[in-house]
Amino acid sequence: MRLLMLLSLLLASPWAHGQALSPKEALGKAIFFDTRYSEPQGQSCASCHDPRTGWTAPEPRLGGPMEGAIPTRFGNRKPPTVAYAGWTPKLHRDEEGTYAGGLFWDGRATGHARDPLAEQAEAPFLNPLEQNLPNRRALVAKLRTAPYAEAFRKIWKLAPDAWDRQSDHVYRRVADSLAAYQRSREVNPFDSRFDAFYRAARRKKLDILSIRPDNQRRFEGLGLEPQELRGLALFNDKGKCSECHVLTPGPGGTPPLFTDFTYDNLGLPRNPENPFYRMASAHNPLGEAWVDPGLEATLAAIPAHARHAAANRGKHRVPTLRNVDQRPAPDFVKTFGHNGFFRSLEDFVRFYNTRDLGGFPPPEVKANMNTEELGNLGLTPEEEAALVAFMKTLSDRRIALPPSP
Ligand code: HEC
Ligand code: HEC
Repeated sequence: MRLLMLLSLLLASPWAHGQALSPKEALGKAIFFDTRYSEPQGQSCASCHDPRTGWTAPEPRLGGPMEGAIPTRFGNRKPPTVAYAGWTPKLHRDEEGTYAGGLFWDGRATGHARDPLAEQAEAPFLNPLEQNLPNRRALVAKLRTAPYAEAFRKIWKLAPDAWDRQSDHVYRRVADSLAAYQRSREVNPFDSRFDAFYRAARRKKLDILSIRPDNQRRFEGLGLEPQELRGLALFNDKGKCSECHVLTPGPGGTPPLFTDFTYDNLGLPRNPENPFYRMASAHNPLGEAWVDPGLEATLAAIPAHARHAAANRGKHRVPTLRNVDQRPAPDFVKTFGHNGFFRSLEDFVRFYNTRDLGGFPPPEVKANMNTEELGNLGLTPEEEAALVAFMKTLSDRRIALPPSP
């Protein structure tokens, strides 16, 4: 017990609003921010998922993807947020043949064997383009020298010789700890201005699923400015955004998560600045000719789903829009989309509005491109701006701080 108290003193972040982390969440937090788990040392999960940018890249990376622990190595996609990812179901196909769920842009952390969030957390340490550890034992060897090693062992009820004899088991508990932290209240506070509005609307028995430009006035005075409210109304109507970034409650009745977890090919152009194109052939044998297959590659690798692979080429999972505009300073450049092609929300909205009218490079993948819900929406510049204004209300107000040393 004394140990647990000491642990919470050591690990509890200076969390201004007094949100205590459970012991497992606190362990997960310590590991998430700990830079010892890479080869060479220096890269943590937070190096690519920083709370100050909405749990994505901590620096403007115009090429999209981030550098790994080895400076010349880059992944091929932009880091998505880890906040609100914990509600993602496992990868599945519904009666209509639509795929949903699974983590990573392409769903390859399927969750078929275990919790998808824990499955995902097992990947980065061993990815040569990310934290680059040679094997699970290397992680356990570092963990046992960490200041929280004893606490880890006690909390997960591991035998004293688990470090030597059960490294696979220990490794999985590391992933479970990370999953616990990423599902914590600290990472998922639901305290954006939108959330305050959402709660106020519910108290007044107003259903935001019914909001349209012609009735938005009923929602005035609940915390959103008129332009933001107009953006929400358009989001749910002419903009068609809520057809994928849904406004319905999330699994278990959470406030909206702004994703139905399905997959789509929006026809994003290739990002010529993606450093992955110039990676050594050991990591990218196709060089400049590499095309991101998205969900296709995940399905092709699962025998029971392989016959549906081609129909899902180029599709990526609908991301949450929570914290999409979270940034440390107004002039901090964030990139958007799986390959980071877009550098502003304004550009992304213009793409939805006018993709099919020319003015954008051709799609990276032509097959399976969605031509029904986007491409020529007929939004005015003022309506585009309202949509952007609305998305800016989705930033959480509490920003998690790294654990104190
Ligand atoms: C070098 C940068 C980098 C590091 C380090 C890193 N990630 Fe990521 N993370 C990414 C990228 C890039 C993706 C998307 C990759 C893809 O879709 O193929 C991703 C995806 C994810 C996702 C999936 C989110 C979703 O919506 O699908 C989670 C969760 C996540 N990372 C958590 C972690 C954890 C936990 C760690 C530490 C163990 C970590 N990441 C370390 C770059 C990084
Ligand atoms: C047909 C489904 C669908 C519709 C409709 C839709 N989106 Fe998306 N959205 C997606 C998918 C899928 C992605 C990821 C695409 C990719 O990276 O290839 C995405 C990505 C985004 C991103 C980038 C998020 C990030 O973290 O990089 C923003 C911003 C966005 N959408 C806003 C909107 C807005 C605003 C609308 C309405 C004008 C809208 N979306 C309509 C499916 C949709």
